[in-house]
This record gives sequence, C-alpha cells and structure tokens, in this order.
Amino acid sequence: MKTITLLTLLFLSPSLFSSERLQRHNKAAEVFTNWHFFENGRGMSISPNLSRFMWMLGENRRDKSDPITKFIEKRYGFTVVDKKLVGVFNVKYKNMDVGVLGCTACHSGKAAGVFVPGLGNKTIDPYKVGRDTYRIQKFWGLGNRNPDYKYIHDKAMYFSKVTSDKNISSLTRGLVPDSTIKTYFYKDHGLKYPKDMGRAQVKAPHLWGIKEKRHAGVFNDGSLSGDSYAWIFGAELFASDSGEHLRAVMPKVKWLTDEVLANLLPPKYPFKVNHPLASKGKVLFNNSCLKCHGDHNKDDNGYPIYTAPKVIPNHVVKTDDEKLKAISPEFVKLVETGSLADLLEFNYENLQKGYFAPKLWGIWSRFPYLHNASVPTLYQLMIKPEKRSPIFSMYEAGDAHRFDKKNVGLTLFDKKEYPKALRKAKKGDRDIYYIKREGQSNSGHYFSKRFDPLSHEDKMAIIEYLKTL
Ligand code: HEC
Ligand code: HEC
Repeated sequence: MKTITLLTLLFLSPSLFSSERLQRHNKAAEVFTNWHFFENGRGMSISPNLSRFMWMLGENRRDKSDPITKFIEKRYGFTVVDKKLVGVFNVKYKNMDVGVLGCTACHSGKAAGVFVPGLGNKTIDPYKVGRDTYRIQKFWGLGNRNPDYKYIHDKAMYFSKVTSDKNISSLTRGLVPDSTIKTYFYKDHGLKYPKDMGRAQVKAPHLWGIKEKRHAGVFNDGSLSGDSYAWIFGAELFASDSGEHLRAVMPKVKWLTDEVLANLLPPKYPFKVNHPLASKGKVLFNNSCLKCHGDHNKDDNGYPIYTAPKVIPNHVVKTDDEKLKAISPEFVKLVETGSLADLLEFNYENLQKGYFAPKLWGIWSRFPYLHNASVPTLYQLMIKPEKRSPIFSMYEAGDAHRFDKKNVGLTLFDKKEYPKALRKAKKGDRDIYYIKREGQSNSGHYFSKRFDPLSHEDKMAIIEYLKTL
C-alpha cells in the first residue's frame, strides 16, 4: 500500500509555518499514520493473502468509487483519508500478502469531519471486525499446508476469535475492550481465560502529550507504569505468538513514544472561537475545574506545554468502575509471575483507585467524553448525570454532520427519532450508545459544590475556553 500523504491542512496556516513544533508535528503525524509493528510474521494481522481481495478493488480503482473501502469504513468504523483506509496495511512477507493492522486503526480518527492523527477512533467496532474475519478466514484457510502460511493463519484465527468472544467484547462500536489484552496473560500461563472476566470497555485515547503523561502512568487509571513503555504495546500482545515479539520491538516502541508521539499537537478547533467569551470561561475554569485538571499553559507560539495529569479517587469522581475492577489482584499476580514480569510494571499506589483527570488539550475533538465515552457533549459533562442523554448514535461519529458546535460533541436523536432509537438500543444495536449496558454508565463527574453555582452562560463560557485548548 502506498504511503498516505497527510493533508493536515489545519496545521498548515502560513503564519505558523515557521514553527519548529508544527513541522515536527507534521512529520510525526505522517510517520505514525504509516506505522505498524508487524515483524517476522508476528503482530495484528488477518490470514495471508486475504488482503489481495481487498486491495484488488481498492488499489486499482482509486479514482472511481471503491465499494469495498466504503463498506469497511461504514461497517467496521475504520477511518478513510484520500480514499484509503488508515491503519490497515498490505505487507509483503515470504511471498505472501499479509493484511496488517497498525496502531492508527484505533489511534487516528475524525472529529467534525477533520482527520486527526493520534485521536482515538470513535467508530471502530473490534467485535464486528473479529466476528466477520473469523467467519471468512475459517474457509479461506482450508487445505493450505504451507507452514509459513499456517503460522500466520493460526494466529489470525486466534486474534479474531478472542476479539469476537461475546463474553468479553465491547457492546457498542467506538469502545475497545481492555479484556482482550488480559487474555494474553492467561495464555502465557497455559490457562484458559475466564468467561466472566469482564469487558473493561474504554474509548481509544488521544496520544498527544503521552511523553509527559507516561511518567504518571499509562492508560486511563494510572495503575500501569509508563516507565518501561511495555504496556503501550498491549493491543499487539495477544495477537502475537509470545512476548518475544514485544522484546524484539521494544526499542522501536520507546522511539515511537518519545520521538514520534511526543511531537504530536492537538488539533485546532476548526470553527470560529469567541475570544472574549473564552477569557471569561478561563476564569471560571480555573475556579471550578483546575484543581483536578491542572494548568494548561502554552509556549510563545501558542502550543501546549504538556504536563502529567493526576489520578482522582473514584469515590470523588464516581464514574463507571467496570474498567477499574479489571486491574484486579488476580490479574496483577498473573503479570508478575508471567514471562514478561521484567517489562510490565505497576504503579501500586494507583491500583483500583480512580481515573486520571486528563489534560484537556484538543478536548473539543475527544467526544464522546469520559473513559467509557458515555457523555455525548461537553455541556452534558457539566450537568447532573440523570439529565444527560441515555442514548446517542455512534454511527459516523467523526463526520461533519454529527458535530454539535453549540454543546461541542455529538448530535443527539431528535424527538421524532428518539422512541425508535431507544427500542433499538434496548435490543442491543451496536451503533447506539446506551448507558444501561454493562460498563457504560454515565454516572459521576458532577461535583455539586463546584458545578451547582455555574449558570447556563457560565457553562457556555467554559466550553468556549475549552475550544482554545
Ligand atoms: C484495538 C485498538 C487499539 C490498537 C490497535 C492500539 N491501541 Fe493503544 N490504546 C487503545 C485503548 C483502548 C487504550 C486505552 C486503554 C485504557 O486506558 O484502559 C490505548 C492506550 C494506549 C496508550 C496509552 C495512552 C494513555 O493516555 O495512557 C498508548 C501510548 C498507546 N495506546 C499506543 C499504542 C500503540 C503504539 C499502538 C500500536 C502498537 C497501539 N496503541 C495500538 C486501543 C488500541
Ligand atoms: C474533582 C475532580 C474534577 C473536577 C473538579 C473536574 N473534573 Fe473533569 N474529570 C475528572 C476526572 C477524574 C475525569 C475522568 C473521569 C473518567 O474518565 O471516568 C474527568 C474528565 C473530564 C473530561 C473528559 C475527558 C475525556 O477525554 O473524555 C472533561 C472534558 C472534563 N473532565 C472537564 C471538566 C470541566 C470543564 C470541569 C469544570 C467545570 C471539570 N472537568 C471538573 C475530574 C474532575
């Protein structure tokens, strides 16, 4: 697959062009978008030569509309830029074509129709990807006895089988289950993973600022240490045959984190900002939010000075705790006695404690909000949970027509659509976020002492300020 040339137009305004940080960002965005960790037949891949069938139409019919790319975009939620799938590669390996998943399948996405490298993909449905590839590969693999083929095929079968396991998969598109990573550690001990281990559904996070963040811990609860970098490889782990893959690519994981991802900048708000109102909002933010979320200072060119966030105990924040339970004492023990114990470290003081109050750089683009994506707009994050929308659509969530400029975030169902959407949600429709599903509660993040005094106008001013981050 040809290298994707990135049209990060948003960052190319002429007055800023001289900035070194901007140039480093553009380079980093390009490197990351074209990056994958497939190595010696190991990594996140589908069965060999299956990708030929995909590219056959995809590559050769570039200028005409390509129905397969379109289908994959809509059904599975992959991002498409310049008519190409982001984070999906065709790698030549031992005379085979291997379809490989890169980090940006999950860690790039769109917001308000703008492509943002390093943003979490809002629409990806790992369960559906796994289920469909499992079914196709089962037949695809029949009868092929070539050992090189078998090696990758068997791993691809396992990868798709775990991803599509209904007991541990996510229940809504746009959510990725951390449970799939946990399965690696049972396999490592020769054990079957328990069916009731939970899902730990989270949204894929943004990655700008990760170099500074990782010192406080990685993932959204800070219980995993970022000092050794190895957790960052988590998504790849269970798709590989062993931890040897991780050991082999460790230097590259470090390089990618500190030399590439470190240079990413948050996307600028693509519409007009009312700056006097934003200044008013900044004062309010400092009173009501700063204690947890901390400073957001900028350098002379207006770019973020990244700092590490801190973990807030969950008896204070009271958001859904399914994810916190996932890092259980049993899991910690499996890791500590496993084959990668020397690489994977914990921040014991943060185990099952709470969530990071994340830094809010580029927050306009990071909807739906909270670690489990349960709150559709910034406005709703400042009102009581019982007043928030219990359902909203995750379909085409990054597209321009889904962006609500006023409340900043996702558009909601209107009165006419609502009853039908609720019926669908109750039946388990994966395109609709429904807060009654396991792990998807929209509780918490309402602090009466701080939020009760905020008027509607105050909240709008805070939103205006958040657009400037
Ligand atoms: C299947 C989707 C998926 C893929 C593929 C994926 N990630 Fe992630 N990544 C996630 C999710 C979801 C989280 C958040 C987990 C959590 O916080 O509980 C995450 C977390 C991270 C973090 C920590 C972010 C933070 O704020 O602490 C880093 C860094 C990261 N991933 C890098 C990578 C790299 C590098 C790759 C490629 C090897 C990759 N990811 C592949 C879904 C994915
Ligand atoms: C008591 C601490 C605390 C206060 C005060 C607080 N927050 Fe938060 N905030 C958090 C924590 C912790 C999270 C993450 C919770 C989660 O993901 O479950 C969070 C999450 C968020 C998010 C979502 C981030 C994302 O990536 O989805 C936004 C936006 C946010 N807060 C904005 C605000 C604003 C605006 C205020 C003030 C009006 C505020 N917060 C006040 C602790 C706080």
